Amino acid sequence: MSDVVTVTNRDGVAVITLQSPPVNGLGSAVRSGLQSALDAAMADDAVDALVVTGAGKMFSGGADIREFGQSPPPGTPHLPTVIDAIEASEKPVVAAIHGFALGGGLELALGCHVRLAAVGTRVALPEVTLGIVPGAGGTQRLPRLIGVPAALDVIVSGSMVPAARARTLGILDDVVEGDVVDAAVARARRMVDERIPIRRASATDDRVAETRGKPEVFVAFKKKMARRARGFEAPYACVECIEAAANLPYAEGTATEREIFVKLLASDQSKAQRHAFFAERQVAKIADVPKDTPRRPIKTAAVIGCGTMGGGIAMNFANAGIPVTVFEVSQEALDKGLGIIARNYAATVSKGRLSQEDMNARLGLISSTVSYDDLSDADVVVEAVFEDMALKREVFGQLDAACKPEAILATNTSTLDVDEIASATSRPDKVIGTHFFSPANVMKLMENVRGAQSSAETIATIMKLSKTIGKIGVLVGICDGFVGNRMLYAYRRQADFLLEEGALPDQIDKVIYDFGMPMGPYAMGDLAGLDVGWRIRQRQAATRPAHLRYSTVADRICELGRFGQKTNAGWFRYEPGSRTPIPDPVVNELVLQVSADNGFTRREVSDQEILERCMYPLVNEGAKILDEGLAQRASDIDVVWMYGYGFPRYRGGPMFWADLVGLGTIYDMMRRLHDEHGDYWLEPAPLLKQLAEQGRGFGDL
Ligand code: 3HC
Ligand code: NAI
Repeated sequence: MSDVVTVTNRDGVAVITLQSPPVNGLGSAVRSGLQSALDAAMADDAVDALVVTGAGKMFSGGADIREFGQSPPPGTPHLPTVIDAIEASEKPVVAAIHGFALGGGLELALGCHVRLAAVGTRVALPEVTLGIVPGAGGTQRLPRLIGVPAALDVIVSGSMVPAARARTLGILDDVVEGDVVDAAVARARRMVDERIPIRRASATDDRVAETRGKPEVFVAFKKKMARRARGFEAPYACVECIEAAANLPYAEGTATEREIFVKLLASDQSKAQRHAFFAERQVAKIADVPKDTPRRPIKTAAVIGCGTMGGGIAMNFANAGIPVTVFEVSQEALDKGLGIIARNYAATVSKGRLSQEDMNARLGLISSTVSYDDLSDADVVVEAVFEDMALKREVFGQLDAACKPEAILATNTSTLDVDEIASATSRPDKVIGTHFFSPANVMKLMENVRGAQSSAETIATIMKLSKTIGKIGVLVGICDGFVGNRMLYAYRRQADFLLEEGALPDQIDKVIYDFGMPMGPYAMGDLAGLDVGWRIRQRQAATRPAHLRYSTVADRICELGRFGQKTNAGWFRYEPGSRTPIPDPVVNELVLQVSADNGFTRREVSDQEILERCMYPLVNEGAKILDEGLAQRASDIDVVWMYGYGFPRYRGGPMFWADLVGLGTIYDMMRRLHDEHGDYWLEPAPLLKQLAEQGRGFGDL
């Protein structure tokens, strides 16, 4: 009947099976197949009831996201039409769910009269993460089944709900051991034989009636979600749809949902969030490292240096159930580092986000040593000692001698040349960079830095390891600062120049925060600590090209002993024990002084100028990185920025955002700035120029 939807008759029950790997996405062909199967089953006297299920790994991953925004639009029937027809059936319809029922997949199940799920199933309405609302009745049927407060939680968070909880909430009717399709056929048969009345979610009202005429429920919910939802449109739209479910008849509520769905689907935010979805999946694909490249199993790990980064990295392994040995220079350093790890876990336990038992299990996976001899078993070693080439080479020489020949040796260096580190070993093919972001146990990004000799097996193994330890690994090449920090530098410089020209730190931070970043450059500096960068700049002073514009403002702050939050003063001041930045007249005074000392007549700097001057050079640097082949694709750069720096997902990352702005606009400004300042950091990237002149974007590459 259809390639993607099959039907078999079992005991008078038509079992309709979605057969569209990998996720049984509900694209046009599946929808048509489903509608035909349904029509046939309705017309067939040998069919008393129906079961809807999915073949392969899951019930359904929902609508086919690739169809969104397609031109011409995908064919009919639309999903809501198919689901409404299922719900309207006079013959009982049972959903047999396993794996996942997500988005439109769950909405399809909600249209069925009974929902049974296999143990281990997870359901969700993740549309909000794609910048849209559930668009096939989900916002109207779910509250009718589980009540408004629970529906708000499920729909606005978009999070996975495990089967047992879904059963308790009332999303599922039963969770079954054994074969779920067998159970569903039996249930359908029983409904027919025992004439059990059909319950249609759309026709129930009592659960939503509880919240009818109570706007305060929604006001309170919006207040609660405000921090997490900052800048996003979709969470608020979800609330609006659920409020419609509470207050309007089903048909009107559905019309509201439809209208909002269609509007959001066309929005830049949804385009950006869909881009993010695919970008996250693209990163795993590496041109010269095919999918079937053999990977080494990682059963045990070691971390060298248990400071700020090493401690967090060790936690990542323990969290993933991988035993890890931590190596330090002395017992004292070990005790200190392990103490911080234990306190970190204890804090998570006290917040109720980890059980004491799990904490003990994780700590039990972390062993420690001061002897290289204890590292001979490790499959992978991550080095996180001080940022010093001579020291790193010394450590890698020792590791090369102590570790088994097949072990991968990784460095967490943030600025040093991975090839030079690799050359201290006899196995440069097994050396790679794993650049974690601070705090390493929290931040999801790993820039995996390929050296000239890193083998395909080493790269494939480390990319897989990133996933295993719950990170998103992006493969990058060697350059100063790699992808993220190199682009960050281009942005930071401009911020300092704007201070000299007329802006103040809190103005710049506000513009960047309002753009959607978690914080502005100055609050970020205060959080990270200002002294490390200052020391690096002092070392570089002698070799800095004289013609290059250099702002002394950051150095002047450090000269006052203001190193950021750790000294309660940096670009801002901090009340003891508080992390809230407070603008400080001392700093503003100093900024004015620096302007005067460097001969600037201060002027009004507009918010728009701040945004453009900070962000366009960042994008320009991204284009240079692409040109130089240091990132595989523009979307990889977007992933680096979303996961390493909190670039707002609803803008899709800097390169996607740049396409929306228009590369012509960015190129024109870069050219102007470069003409004005003659600074190589501002030189338009050849790729930017080329794309701008062709009227294309990074997304067209
Ligand atoms: N549409 C189109 N493609 C999809 C898809 C979808 N809904 N879900 C997954 N894919 C693709 C992925 O892009 C990937 O393609 P690739 O191999 O070319 O990179 C492939 O399917 C496999 O996906 P994953 O690598 O993510 O596979 P996993 O097994 O790790 O995860 C999953 C499976 C949990 C289902 C995960 O893919 C997922 O979360 N998918 C999206 C679910 C979702 O957001 N659904 C809502 C869609 S919107 C909707 O339904 C609107 C409705 O309300 C009208
Ligand atoms: P840190 O100073 O907090 O920790 C370094 C640790 O290494 C100390 O505990 C020290 O005792 C130990 N150590 C020094 N020599 C050693 C040796 N020979 N053998 C074993 N241990 C030794 O430094 P941090 O911040 O953890 O940085 C470590 C590395 O991570 C550096 O390469 C740094 O550039 C990089 N990095 C740092 C980030 C950050 O935000 N702090 C972010 C990303 C990378």
